[in-house]
Amino acid sequence: MTQPSIPLAAMPGSTTAVVPPQWIPLGFMFAAGVGFMGVGFSMWFGADKWVISPFHSATVTTAHMVMLAFLTTAVLGALHQFGPVVGQRPLRSVHIAAWTMVGMIVTGWTLPLGFAHGPEWLVATGAVIGVTTVTLGAWNLSGPLMSRSGGVPVVGLRLSVLYLLITVSFGIVYAFNRQEAWFPLLPAKILAHAHLGILGWLGLTYISVSEKLWPMFLLSHRPSSRSGAIAVGGLAVGVLPFALGLLYANAVVTWFGAVFIVVGLVAHLFSLASSVRHRRRKLELLHAFLFVSASFLLAGMVLGAIAALGGVDTSLRIRIVTAEVAALASWLGLAVIGHSHKIVPFITYSMLRARGVNHHKSGRPLLFGDLYNKRIAWGVLIGSVAAFAGVVVGTLFDASAPIAISGVLIVITAITVTTNFIVGARSAVPANPTANPTRQQPGSTSILTKGSS
Ligand code: HEM
Repeated sequence: MTQPSIPLAAMPGSTTAVVPPQWIPLGFMFAAGVGFMGVGFSMWFGADKWVISPFHSATVTTAHMVMLAFLTTAVLGALHQFGPVVGQRPLRSVHIAAWTMVGMIVTGWTLPLGFAHGPEWLVATGAVIGVTTVTLGAWNLSGPLMSRSGGVPVVGLRLSVLYLLITVSFGIVYAFNRQEAWFPLLPAKILAHAHLGILGWLGLTYISVSEKLWPMFLLSHRPSSRSGAIAVGGLAVGVLPFALGLLYANAVVTWFGAVFIVVGLVAHLFSLASSVRHRRRKLELLHAFLFVSASFLLAGMVLGAIAALGGVDTSLRIRIVTAEVAALASWLGLAVIGHSHKIVPFITYSMLRARGVNHHKSGRPLLFGDLYNKRIAWGVLIGSVAAFAGVVVGTLFDASAPIAISGVLIVITAITVTTNFIVGARSAVPANPTANPTRQQPGSTSILTKGSS
């Protein structure tokens, strides 16, 4: 199989000067793995409340474990690595990156704990820490993301970080409103906040980043990347009017935004199909993750369309919309887990090489694919797909059992995927790696001569 002909700077784990120390993205990723485990426990113990109402404190708790402790932590971590690579400029400050990681972990656990048990000041505290953290993170990322290089993905990332700022600003207002009761927090208002976060922040980041990652990870050389540009543009333009329409109950503005969002998401699926068709490597684990992840996106779009056009009563509509939100979270969750099987080994690999470890313990050159167990990774795929499907089906049919079982599966999957990366990296290299005579200097570019699977 042909080796990637990509500039070293395009590699997520590259050792060029622009990327932060590896412990920054790896720290975020580890925290996201622990957060994913928290999602499982929260879902497991809150399943019976979940089916009572999506606005029950147990459901709001799980929703923020998913959105903050798992997805936002993972995606923000990836951006701290990826932003400098695509923008070809370093972060403004490594110290602030470390504080952003700490702040995100604190927010991701404090806010849900406040929702679950109170006291109410815990929700307010989590909200203040969350907004401060995101503001610091956005300032830090603005260094690389304000660069003129990087094209459509960098523009998409700039806007997605702006959407994150808008989402948490809404969030803090809603959080204080719980005590002050300035306005009734109607479902449509919460949906505006939810879609700003899921589509504007997480979705737009993923769609933008995948335009750079897929050509590299799938070894794909597409004749045109127009569908990717339409995907980024459609989502970036559509989410704001969609959310404003929901907020002010204006159907015309909501539909205006929805049309752009649908165009963007369909273009994203075209972009995936085109990347897979023009791939130069055989189908493997990441493709499987991408296919099931895209199926959840389709399911989310269909559920959203039924809720909007299906002429269903209010209680059924709320259930369908909750299932739609669950399906979109599953789309992103599977994408994050799938890509982590490329990104984490890339970063670990460059960290090992910087320490002079460039051989497997058997003596042959170290490969990215040595850094985790592939069979276990396939098990993670099966476990996470079953778990996410259980949540969507359980929500749709008001059944707590599939949701509780999904919670258990998520706990197992989260522990498995996190340990697979830690144990995989440790067991691949010799016990005393520095004794290796072929020690290589940090910054070496021969990373490109290594196989990536
Ligand atoms: C500092 C950050 C945030 C704060 C303070 C916050 C606060 C809130 C509040 C107060 C609610 C309404 C809860 C209630 O019914 O009383 C809510 C709902 C929601 N938020 Fe956030 N949020 C934040 C970040 C996010 C992010 C980044 C996302 C998505 C990526 C998100 C997704 C959601 C969802 C999906 C719901 C609906 C949950 C449900 O009804 O079950 N939030 N948020």
